[in-house]
Amino acid sequence: MAYSGKVIDHYENPRNVGTLDKDATTVGTGVVGAPECGDVMRLQIQVNPDTGVIEDAKFKTFGCGSAIASSSLATEWLKGKTIHEAEDIKNTQIVEELSLPPVKIHCSVLAEDAIKAAIHDYEHKNGLEHDD
Ligand code: FES
Ligand code: FES
Repeated sequence: MAYSGKVIDHYENPRNVGTLDKDATTVGTGVVGAPECGDVMRLQIQVNPDTGVIEDAKFKTFGCGSAIASSSLATEWLKGKTIHEAEDIKNTQIVEELSLPPVKIHCSVLAEDAIKAAIHDYEHKNGLEHDD
């Protein structure tokens, strides 16, 4: 299967690979797995508690090139957004940006799920839960 140039670029030069302190109250961690293939993605955000702005984002993905590219792109998009803006990131935006083919759509779903899980973790740690 042919990967798009953007997927290859993110795969070869992944942005923001790394780890934030998962015990910090300002850090939210999301770990999700894809039942389709067994790939696993960990995505973390560091939030300014006064503004709700995501100041840093890191990921580690044990998975296919599209999953790595989706999470790399997600960390780029997350930085500078508020957690509420970040909740609106959709896997379809990732599919479009990376030109993912149908068999790779679940890789972008993994990234959306990881973003949501990281936000939830941050919210739960800080007593900010809301229901959706
Ligand atoms: Fe499963 Fe990409 S093939 S995450
Ligand atoms: Fe915030 Fe669901 S994304 S509670």
